[in-house]
Amino acid sequence: MSIEQRKLDHVRYALELPITGSTGFSDLSFVHRALPESDLADVSLATSVGGLDLSSPILLNAMTGGAGPTEAINRKLAELAKHSGIAMAVGSQRAALKDPALCSTYSVVREVNPNGIIIGNLGAGATVEDAERAVEMIGADLLHLHLNVAQELTMPEGDRSFSDLLEKIQRVVEGVSVPVIVKEVGNGMSIETYRMLADIGVQAVDVAGRGGTNFVAIENQRRSGRQFQHLESWGQTTAVSLLEAQDFVNTFDLIGSGGVQHAHDAAKCLALGAKMVGLAGAVLRPLMEHGVEYATELVDHLHSELRAILTLQGCRKVGELAQRPLIVRGETAEWCRLRGLR
Ligand code: FNR
Repeated sequence: MSIEQRKLDHVRYALELPITGSTGFSDLSFVHRALPESDLADVSLATSVGGLDLSSPILLNAMTGGAGPTEAINRKLAELAKHSGIAMAVGSQRAALKDPALCSTYSVVREVNPNGIIIGNLGAGATVEDAERAVEMIGADLLHLHLNVAQELTMPEGDRSFSDLLEKIQRVVEGVSVPVIVKEVGNGMSIETYRMLADIGVQAVDVAGRGGTNFVAIENQRRSGRQFQHLESWGQTTAVSLLEAQDFVNTFDLIGSGGVQHAHDAAKCLALGAKMVGLAGAVLRPLMEHGVEYATELVDHLHSELRAILTLQGCRKVGELAQRPLIVRGETAEWCRLRGLR
């Protein structure tokens, strides 16, 4: 199967498959303050990741590129990012490194949004040279290196060797011209992984937990014969992935993502120390069904609700949410107890 067909299948199944399973967000609650001592007008959504200043903590997370029809999708995503003033990432650029004729399916995002913050994307096995080519292709401000072992193992044509990824990530972190964000694609992360990434000097991590777009389920649809059904619930939820990261909130710029649907989910990520919150599937669906204007209204509304939540919590800045108590219940609390997390 060609990479191009795979890219189209990913979009198709991300749109078609229902979201099942929990992100853990329903186990998390803010404590209402009837006297917040705050003014909505004083609230700023500004944040920073990898040393870059951003006016919004919302990230349109990595999705597509690498097949003819994905150019139109990336154009729409870039228009949305530009109109909403949010950062965006492109999907894995490996296809264009193999076939330069596909570069325009990615570089369209820079054409549409010349001054926006744009994140490049490659797998964690990329060389420094490939990483630099990916950055140049779209004038990337930051580079994602994705970890997707469960997805690869479910793909009949996927990678099978993962024993030297950390060393390869380190080379790119040290050699590429922009800050690197290491990201999962929906199976989450743990203390053990954060420690390994911290040891090699990674600056930013996108947890991409379980509970949103499910790449094992997507790849199962693409397999013929028996499916890897039991891997569909593999990994840590987004809430757990962020709770596992609590010792690293000053080490990395954390991005909370995986199943984020609305401002309340986003605020919970910020309360757990995330500096940015990524959404992929939850934006792709309305964008493809109703267009850029409708999706822009949704992101504007998300910003309004986020400002309201900051006001309710007596916060002027997104970073202050991390100083507010967040109650952890249910399975998520049980996980924390068993893992000795605070
Ligand atoms: C993705 N995602 C993804 N991630 C990545 O690092 N490189 C990629 O090429 C892709 N491709 C891709 C295609 C499509 C159609 C979707 C919906 C998603 C994963 C994405 O960035 C994110 O980590 C997960 O989708 C989890 O977030 P959501 O979708 O639950 O908000």
